[in-house]
Amino acid sequence: MLKNDQLSQWDRDNFFHPSTHLAQHARGEMPTCVIKTASGVYIEDRDGNRLLDAFAGLYCVNVGYGRPEIAEAIAAQAKELAYYHSYVGHGTEASITLSKMILDRAPANMSKVYFGQSGSDANETNIKLIWYYNNILGRPEKKKIISRWRGYHGSGLMTGSLTGLELFHNKFDLPLAQVIHTQAPYYYRRDDLGQSEEQFTAHCVAALEQMIAREGADTIAAFIGEPVLGTGGIVPPPAGYWPAIKAVLDKHDILLVLDEVVTGFGRLGSMFGADHYGLEADLITIAKGLTSAYAPLSGSIVSERMWKVLEQGTDENGPIGHGWTYSAHPIGAAAGVANLKLLDDLQLIANAGSVGGYLKQSMQQALGDHPNVGDIRGEGLLCAIEFVEDRDSRTFFDPARKIGPAISAALLAQDKVIARAMPQGDILGFAPPFCLSVAEADKIVAATVGAVKTVMGG
Ligand SMILES: Cc1ncc(COP(=O)(O)O)c(C=O)c1O
Repeated sequence: MLKNDQLSQWDRDNFFHPSTHLAQHARGEMPTCVIKTASGVYIEDRDGNRLLDAFAGLYCVNVGYGRPEIAEAIAAQAKELAYYHSYVGHGTEASITLSKMILDRAPANMSKVYFGQSGSDANETNIKLIWYYNNILGRPEKKKIISRWRGYHGSGLMTGSLTGLELFHNKFDLPLAQVIHTQAPYYYRRDDLGQSEEQFTAHCVAALEQMIAREGADTIAAFIGEPVLGTGGIVPPPAGYWPAIKAVLDKHDILLVLDEVVTGFGRLGSMFGADHYGLEADLITIAKGLTSAYAPLSGSIVSERMWKVLEQGTDENGPIGHGWTYSAHPIGAAAGVANLKLLDDLQLIANAGSVGGYLKQSMQQALGDHPNVGDIRGEGLLCAIEFVEDRDSRTFFDPARKIGPAISAALLAQDKVIARAMPQGDILGFAPPFCLSVAEADKIVAATVGAVKTVMGG
């Protein structure tokens, strides 16, 4: 058996970790965290610490850890056929079955699914399909993509550009010129504190209208957004936001891409955010919850309206010049089929809705009056607490004080509960697996109260 100290040396010497302070890690200034096994909502490290994972990995292990049904489906697929490609009309029983299962669950206007490996590559696919679509329709100028500040859509060249968080742009020469960012639909952080939620929605809509007028609607191809802002702070939209935005997009013939990498397959208590907010999208991005992260798999669900134009494009130009070696990888597809069955069999989406409501309400009861808690918000099984220096004047903490990370660290140290310090602002995020019980939700709330007390007092 390898010792953790040896592993941690190998880790520092060899492993380039994503989203990590590289210098601190290489100098050994941050602990090596070696996760060994997991079950339900708990993960266990090599030292035997059992941690309650209230963020489901990166909000992706939706059915919970250690499901034998998915592990066995993966093993059976690997034994029968570990790989074959899906180019030129090839498929496997698993990939064809999964595409049918996805379309059975998707909104009625959707037509086909293109498979990838990650949320980032699915959004890259989306942008290429949008450009192709407008070229086939003879609109070569209609190419810009509107994204929102605080949106998260991945960290590739195009998707890192779509992402509206400065950390993902700085020193990377992003965003690319084709991407423009509009107002984040973040009511708590509105500039004008006197605005009602409806007035703030009107402000977001006016900002979008002004951007379209300035740039010219004939230069704008699409608008991309998460139904609920995720990595940007776990922020549900203000009242009336989506129908009002959709009306503007329709007026200017701008496509809507709903990035449902986090919300797809149940996190809001509905199958899709599109259903939850009554929206018709042209493309829907799926990843994380498609396999509950048991294997890497993503997808772009394409509407019938776009599909017809893509068909026309290949009649005119030949096969579509877009493909990944691992598109529709059989092991990912087998995991997806087993995962979607499990969501149905255990009625996990209904549980996400009900236990999610309970978690948010309990947080509000326990911490709603704390002088440093500015906002407690959420939708389905997404919940966030935003900390402020002064709640009456809504004065934010100096980011250098790193209050959010300090509370997250206290939660882990005191009660072995994992919640995520969101990257921009002092925001603690919760997105547990859908199998979370009421008792486990109570444990998360009690631990959070303790951590807030340690860091903030009160
Ligand atoms: C909404 C959203 N879109 C896209 C992505 C990118 O997915 P991936 O990290 O699999 O590339 C993420 C990842 O967190 C996400 O939250």
